[in-house]
Amino acid sequence: MTAEEIKEFLKEVHHPGKEDRDIVDLGMVQDVKVGEAGVVVTLGFPKQRDPLKKYIIGATRATLIRHLGNKIRTEVEEVEIEAPAARKGTEFTKETLLSVKHIIGVASGKGGVGKSTVAVNLAVALARLGYKVGLADADVYGPSVPVMTGSEGYRPVAEEINGKDYIVPLEKYGVKWMSIGYFAEKGQALVWRGPMASNALKQLILQVNWGPLDFLLIDMPPGTGDIHISLTQEIGIEGAVIVTTPQTVALADVEKGANMFRNENVNKAIYGIVENMAWFTPEEHPDEKYYIFGRDGGAKMAEELGIPLLGRIPLVQSIRENGDDGAPAALSSRPDGLAFLELAGKLAEIV
Ligand SMILES: Nc1ncnc2c1ncn2[C@@H]1O[C@H](COP(=O)(O)OP(=O)(O)O)[C@@H](O)[C@H]1O
Ligand SMILES: [Mg+2]
Repeated sequence: MTAEEIKEFLKEVHHPGKEDRDIVDLGMVQDVKVGEAGVVVTLGFPKQRDPLKKYIIGATRATLIRHLGNKIRTEVEEVEIEAPAARKGTEFTKETLLSVKHIIGVASGKGGVGKSTVAVNLAVALARLGYKVGLADADVYGPSVPVMTGSEGYRPVAEEINGKDYIVPLEKYGVKWMSIGYFAEKGQALVWRGPMASNALKQLILQVNWGPLDFLLIDMPPGTGDIHISLTQEIGIEGAVIVTTPQTVALADVEKGANMFRNENVNKAIYGIVENMAWFTPEEHPDEKYYIFGRDGGAKMAEELGIPLLGRIPLVQSIRENGDDGAPAALSSRPDGLAFLELAGKLAEIV
């Protein structure tokens, strides 16, 4: 019996006080642990008193016993959660993603390692290889796609398809782009947190008319947390690419990032690690490599964590400049551009 299977039958528990929606749909199931000792289900209730709490806990316990029998120990725990369980967009389902073959998260254990740079260039490189590609910039804390693609100020428009409104993505460099940054004024901080951020992000991905795609990349927020787990599960991300720098201190972050996808409840593929800033090459000496953050850190990490090393990207001034200018390095045929093409080829092959 897996946590997923248990979650399936927890959908039989309905909340009479919330339009009779089920507790999974309501986001109340915080955790399902399956161990040798038994099954523990953790339900989240908002701080405000829920008069039906006892009823819900009882119904959950009864459902578990009905399915698992009374030989397996089952326990239902409760935790207090911040906001009332977030309402899932009832109008938008995954139907917009039906024509998307592979949804891949680009993640990092921490910020500033070049996650967005890699995501944006990977998208452009995959498009150069002939794939149909989209990228959703889901980094609520610092959306970078508008700047990195030179599309600041783009204001998404909606189009109606079969009576529903869909957001039209921006098309540039052969890629369809959507960013949470397109919905904020320049310099305006995005202060969404927790369930609100998760909901905005789901909409940003599910409400977009992506059309047929081979790859939809998601530039995920840095770090690990609720937003990541909810994105991974509810959008249907099938696997992830983890970006890191070669320092040994980054190993713990990478491991945290990887565990976010491969823990037993989420259980997604990790396609590989991208070692960014693997070495420094000065512009005036294109043949030289300086391993300023240490040598082969990414390869060692990959080996230690049992995850393939997908590629290595050098630290070169042009990558930063191209990012700031809005014309990604992957458009070029310089060594750094080719490094992204090679990375894209390898990812496509593995996926
Ligand atoms: N390989 C690289 N070479 C040069 N500059 C890079 C490289 N990777 C990232 N940068 C620069 O480092 C900064 C942070 O990168 P970014 O992709 O925004 O990181 P993250 O998304 O992980 O926060 C940006 O200014 C970017 O242009
Ligand atoms: Mg970023």
